[in-house]
Amino acid sequence: MVCLGNICRSPLAEGILSNKLPTASYFIDSAGTAAYHVGNPPDPRSIVIAKKRGIDIRKQRARAFELVDFKRFDRIYVMDRSNYQNLQALQPSDKDWKKVALLLDTEEVPDPYYAGDDGFETVFDLIDTATDRIVTELKAHE
Ligand code: 4NP
Repeated sequence: MVCLGNICRSPLAEGILSNKLPTASYFIDSAGTAAYHVGNPPDPRSIVIAKKRGIDIRKQRARAFELVDFKRFDRIYVMDRSNYQNLQALQPSDKDWKKVALLLDTEEVPDPYYAGDDGFETVFDLIDTATDRIVTELKAHE
């Protein structure tokens, strides 16, 4: 799960998906395409909305997406088109680039950093729906 800062959207995506899949069978992680917040916990507003929905993301720490992540993961979901372009700029191989998709397929998970608390509710709901779809797809392949 990839966003820009790895403090607002992708920590929620990591937490929500981790809550829906057996973590013994699936390695789920998140990263940012920028390094501004490396080492920081999620934004307090993400922590609050996650907690309200029964998910604890407090232990997560931001990290920057690395080239090796293209190898480490089978699927890479980005929150918006800018994240998509940032990953493309790393010049992954054709095989690795096929792993990358917008989490919402044709839409973006809006950046809530400068939005109010309701922006985080919207982000949570969008990710919640998208991760339901991912879980259904994964179960179909089991
Ligand atoms: P995120 O949100 O990409 O969902 O973690 C942002 C976090 C920080 C900044 C922008 C977006 N920032 O500009 O510092």
